[in-house]
Amino acid sequence: MSKVGLFYGTDTGNTERVADMIKDKIGADICEVHDIATASAGDFAKYDKIILGQPTWYYGELQSSWDDFWDDFKGIDFTGKTVACFGLGDQADYSEYFLDAMGLMHDIAIENGAVPAGYTSTDGFEFDESKAITEDEEFFVGLGIDEDQQPELTAGRIDEWVDQIKEEMEI
Ligand SMILES: Cc1cc2nc3c(=O)[nH]c(=O)nc-3n(C[C@H](O)[C@H](O)[C@H](O)COP(=O)(O)O)c2cc1C
Repeated sequence: MSKVGLFYGTDTGNTERVADMIKDKIGADICEVHDIATASAGDFAKYDKIILGQPTWYYGELQSSWDDFWDDFKGIDFTGKTVACFGLGDQADYSEYFLDAMGLMHDIAIENGAVPAGYTSTDGFEFDESKAITEDEEFFVGLGIDEDQQPELTAGRIDEWVDQIKEEMEI
């Protein structure tokens, strides 16, 4: 069984917690978790199946350690790799920028050759704008988690999503 590499960044710990929940559900023996603050571009080369997690901060901006890594990230060749993204945000207080960083991260991976996985419906969320949605606005380009407004839905959303990506990524 090939390993899955999960790369996340966090400012206040929520994304780390979600990353751990995803790892536990996939299986700690299969899923290797990397904090992007200490990761290198070379770490990505070890995996054909990759999960990327990032919260959005300060009106549509990247999380700080992802921001520091961004130039390296743009240089990674994702050809032959399947990539599933997850993002954290707040759909009420940042309704015009909901999950933007997940969208920016997804777009780079796709531009650099990744096969996308893990799109989810936008049903059940209320927001004005997002860079993390498909053109028809029906899907997020990954899993959306809102620990500020809908923390009670997080565990169920993760469970359902991990089942979905296990199939799509053949984990
Ligand atoms: C000052 C501030 C700015 C934020 N900006 C955004 C934003 O632009 N878009 C969004 O969806 N969420 C935004 N959020 C919500 C965070 O993404 C959310 O709280 C997330 O769970 C934080 O994840 P972390 O603990 O992993 O850093 C913001 C939160 C704060 C406190």
